[in-house]
Amino acid sequence: MLSDKDRIFTNLYGHHDWRLKGARARGDWDGTKAILAMGHDWIVDQVKASGLRGRGGAGFPTGLKWSFMPKAVGERPHYLVVNADEGEPGTCKDRDMMRNDPHKLIEGCLIAGFAMRAHVAYIYVRGEFYREAERLDAAIAEAEEAGLLGDDACGSGWPFRVYVHKGAGAYICGEETALIQSLEGKKGQPRLKPPFPAGVGLYGCPTTVNNVESIAVVPTVLRRGASWFSGIGRENNTGTKVFCISGHVNKPCNVEEAMSIPLRTLIEKHAGGVRGGWDNLLAVIPGGASVPLLPKDICDDVLMDFDALKEAKSGLGTAAVMVMDKSADVVASIARLSQFYMHESCGQCTPCREGAGWMSRVMDRMVTGDANPEEIDILEQVTRQVEGHTICALGDAAAWPIQGLIRHFRPELERRIAARRGQSGKGAAAAAE
Ligand code: NAI
Ligand code: SF4
Repeated sequence: MLSDKDRIFTNLYGHHDWRLKGARARGDWDGTKAILAMGHDWIVDQVKASGLRGRGGAGFPTGLKWSFMPKAVGERPHYLVVNADEGEPGTCKDRDMMRNDPHKLIEGCLIAGFAMRAHVAYIYVRGEFYREAERLDAAIAEAEEAGLLGDDACGSGWPFRVYVHKGAGAYICGEETALIQSLEGKKGQPRLKPPFPAGVGLYGCPTTVNNVESIAVVPTVLRRGASWFSGIGRENNTGTKVFCISGHVNKPCNVEEAMSIPLRTLIEKHAGGVRGGWDNLLAVIPGGASVPLLPKDICDDVLMDFDALKEAKSGLGTAAVMVMDKSADVVASIARLSQFYMHESCGQCTPCREGAGWMSRVMDRMVTGDANPEEIDILEQVTRQVEGHTICALGDAAAWPIQGLIRHFRPELERRIAARRGQSGKGAAAAAE
């Protein structure tokens, strides 16, 4: 478990002054000039050595991603884009970082942007985070006033500016290529990769898109050292992580903990335990709506990191831990997520557009049991046809929760169908439609 001295987000709950004065008192902007003086490649190498993996959901190694940016700056400027379009259901960590610790993100923008030879960072903030965008703007103004940003950022000789851009409420604009399109003023729709943004990004220029948390931890990682960060957690799953714990717990919260903490410890130590006690647990979605749920027997021992949750056929995703006790209707919960993905599909690829709608309609019938038993297998097969056959990860995200439900709760689906058939004395009427 993480000791207080190892916490990076020391104002996560907003108990202290978020302004520059308070941030400086907590150590932000300390020695930034000296870090920049170590050079672009040193910073990238340190981030690689820290083992930091992207905190937005996919877990791609951050330093490696930075190293894809061209070393020479030609005619095309380089850009850093911060993905603050936090829209994954259950996830509310970036919001609190921007609200209560904005200077960590802004200092991180300077260091990361400098490492990748960018002079500009755009923070693309979810439209609903109106107050957070205001606060970021105020913190940026303070940093400019103090000479931390501007023509000679921190006295480094490196011009650097940060701009905040507000999204307009589309979940899909959190996908990095859709986000770039949106930032350019176009309709936010994903495109195929490659080319990855490091080759062709914002305005066709080399661009790196990173999550808020990935960037906000960087100054502390460099100040305290890569080996400090890599010493927390376990191999390939290093550092601290902010978890968002919601649902049937006694005390829902965001909390920064060590990567690889056992799920049960996380819930019992920080969220006051499962309502009615651990034995009252039914299932947990451990990483935001896009990853499959896990039943209690797996939750008993699983570790909260990328590799352990992958092995458990789920994922760390955004580390949004959604807890369901035995009172939860697990089928209805997954059906609700299916409606969400149907609604948020941008509609440009057939498996996602048609599949998400079809899966949602079948899931709605599964809730009442108004289906044929064979449809469980058909539903599973359709998720396999959608998964991996779409432009962006939304197709996978629509498929995976249903796969998890069928993998772990098939008897519950069968029970509902049998009960409904017993009630009506015939097969499900709607299944024939
Ligand atoms: P991805 O695996 O396609 O990419 C991850 C990152 O690594 C991207 O920045 C990509 O450009 C980079 N990358 C991957 N392979 C590369 C290569 N060969 N060369 C260069 N760069 C490479 O995943 P994606 O679509 O960015 O994220 C999906 C995840 O996002 C989901 O699993 C979900 O957990 C999460 N998510 C988070 C949300 C939030 O609110 N934070 C909202 C929705 C989804
Ligand atoms: Fe759009 Fe869905 Fe295709 Fe992603 S997978 S590009 S959201 S239609």
